[in-house]
Amino acid sequence: MNIILMGLPGAGKGTQAERIVETFNIPHISTGDMFRAAIKNETELGKKAKSFMDQGNLVPDEITIGIVRERLSKEDCAKGFLLDGFPRTVPQAEALSSMLKELGRELDHVINIDVHRDLLIERLTGRWICSTCGASYHTVFNPPKVEGICDKDGSKLFQRDDDKEEVVAQRLDVNISQAKLLMDYYSNEGILRTINGEREIQEVFEDIAALLRG
Ligand code: AP5
Repeated sequence: MNIILMGLPGAGKGTQAERIVETFNIPHISTGDMFRAAIKNETELGKKAKSFMDQGNLVPDEITIGIVRERLSKEDCAKGFLLDGFPRTVPQAEALSSMLKELGRELDHVINIDVHRDLLIERLTGRWICSTCGASYHTVFNPPKVEGICDKDGSKLFQRDDDKEEVVAQRLDVNISQAKLLMDYYSNEGILRTINGEREIQEVFEDIAALLRG
């Protein structure tokens, strides 16, 4: 199963992706996670990506397309993949289409998680992430059992630099303008499905799972 999970920052892509990959046993490919790993490891890619991410801007297409091309060619993607946060621009969508053609593959599902801007700000500024496994929590909507500690592995939780209020506004504005064009692109392809993301995490997941099971 080849899936794209779309949605504005804070829509719940990462939260739902955790559940989808566990249930459908496919690899989770998050460009945001790949950039953050590169930044942590202080690689050349990380240095390039950091300046864009810190300001809430998109990393340039040629860099982003390059890392996805490399990742999709890995063996574990042969049985399918879940793309989270890619594509985010029409040139990225066009590049993905060419990559899949080369690999003799097709997209099965493009799912957009829809949430309004005000709620996104609340979600992003209250988000905490596990420093080891990357699991995502929220101080109000999805708190860990023990404050500041991951339920899954007991590691410390931290807040992302780009979840600061001033960066969040810029991230949302940049993504909103691109998302509209991208939704038109996949709508024209007849493959876009939109899910109401303003409900309980489990309810959103059940809708997505039903869609994927067809
Ligand atoms: P990325 O890491 O992809 O961030 P994002 O798109 O900004 O999305 P987020 O991870 O912030 O949100 P999410 O939708 O995963 O929400 P989550 O599940 O955590 O990208 C980071 C940066 O990398 C970009 O800004 C850009 O610079 C760069 N980048 C990445 N991909 C790129 C690309 N393709 N092109 C160019 N640049 C790229 O949920 C958020 C919070 O809400 C959590 O606290 C969660 O617990 C809570 N929550 C989730 N669902 C619910 C619910 N149903 N009800 C209540 N609370 C909920």
